Amino acid sequence: MSAAEPVRIGVLGRGTVGAAFEEMIGERAAAVEAATGRRPDLSGVLTTSEGDFDEILAGSDIVVELIGGTDPARDYVLRALSDGKHVVTANKQLVAQHGDELFAAAREAGVQLRFEAAVAGVIPVIRVIQESLPAVELTRVFGIVNGTTNYILTEMARTGASYEDALGQAQELGYAEADPSDDVGGADAAAKMAILARLAFHTPVRLEDVTFEGIEAIAPDDLEYAKQFGLSLKLLGVAERHDGEISVRVFPCFLYSGHPLAPVSGPFNAVMVESPSITEITMSGPGAGGTETAAAVLGDVVSILAGDAPVHEPREELAVTRDLTSAFYLHLEVADRPGVLATVADVLGRNEVSVRSVVQWGLGEDARLVMVMHDCREANFDAALEELGGLDFMRSQPRAIRVIEEFA
Ligand SMILES: NC(=O)c1ccc[n+]([C@@H]2O[C@H](COP(=O)([O-])OP(=O)(O)OC[C@H]3O[C@@H](n4cnc5c(N)ncnc54)[C@H](OP(=O)(O)O)[C@@H]3O)[C@@H](O)[C@H]2O)c1
Repeated sequence: MSAAEPVRIGVLGRGTVGAAFEEMIGERAAAVEAATGRRPDLSGVLTTSEGDFDEILAGSDIVVELIGGTDPARDYVLRALSDGKHVVTANKQLVAQHGDELFAAAREAGVQLRFEAAVAGVIPVIRVIQESLPAVELTRVFGIVNGTTNYILTEMARTGASYEDALGQAQELGYAEADPSDDVGGADAAAKMAILARLAFHTPVRLEDVTFEGIEAIAPDDLEYAKQFGLSLKLLGVAERHDGEISVRVFPCFLYSGHPLAPVSGPFNAVMVESPSITEITMSGPGAGGTETAAAVLGDVVSILAGDAPVHEPREELAVTRDLTSAFYLHLEVADRPGVLATVADVLGRNEVSVRSVVQWGLGEDARLVMVMHDCREANFDAALEELGGLDFMRSQPRAIRVIEEFA
């Protein structure tokens, strides 16, 4: 590529993001040229009914993969890299599942693989982790990385809607897909957290290393009672470093109102990055949308033209731990009779789980106990939960949701 020549960009996919990217290249060509000295030129587009991959590959300097999924995206991206082409992708599944192979192929060919849009849309979280803070030892990266679930939880809390109604609304507005299972079940957020953990901790992280729970079982009354404790509910992705080990998880979690992520509502995403040396950084913004995602993809194209290449080589292999501590919200439906509260307290106490606050409602012959626990070992809490579930005065299975205590 000589300096004055246009940079030829081949685009794979012309869906929500691909179509917006194609339009943006046309509209922002002069701005890209002003920033990089190179004018972008669309060299071809591949869809299921249009274009030929080999021709696009031969005629492109940069290949932009906006098909989604792993097949045929993986094959196309590997072929582009090994052919010496830089690649930009917005595909979280591809990077989360095949990162090692793709990074190795890029290293071997001496080309760049960029994927800012794969996590948290246009929020430049990958750029911040890789390029602003590469020498900082990050201790935690966490946030709201799925806009669909954040929209659903926001609507449930705001209107008292059921999970099903809020999901239907999200689908009508285009925030949720016809098959929402990857979003609401936590798998989408898990793929994004695998990518963030890999970059933040410089260690290989496989999708299987990430434990995840979704929001399908959240009931409107959980949100109602939580309000009385000043809590709001988010689906959080949390990647943490603990003494030479890491954990990467996705779970619904109550946050105290002063927490920086508590006000992040609707389809917005937000990611926090922490380390003793930087305290914390919070980034928030749209996590999806054709134009927003296309803007992140175009940003990657500009970075490639600017020539700065982040290194994707693991520095160490960190083991994954599941021995963790959390605070919990606990919702119990019990028979309203003497001794019940004392028995519940005894089960929690014997399992070294201590209660921070408790509210009780009478429901005729039954009662509802809603409690918030102090931080405890998750294994101890699970043991207490199992024991509570087997007691004869329980009217339904206990419901528990993690809580993040007031932000320190
Ligand atoms: N949508 C968002 O807001 C968003 C946000 C962040 C990241 N992303 C990521 O961006 C990527 C694209 O998402 P999208 O929403 O734009 O997807 P989309 O609307 O479903 O579009 C997919 C495009 O890929 C084409 N395609 C599918 N299979 C193909 C194949 N075998 N060969 C060639 N072309 C094929 C489709 O062709 P046809 O036109 O012929 O059907 C379509 O043009 C995904 O990785 C997604 O996770 C999307």
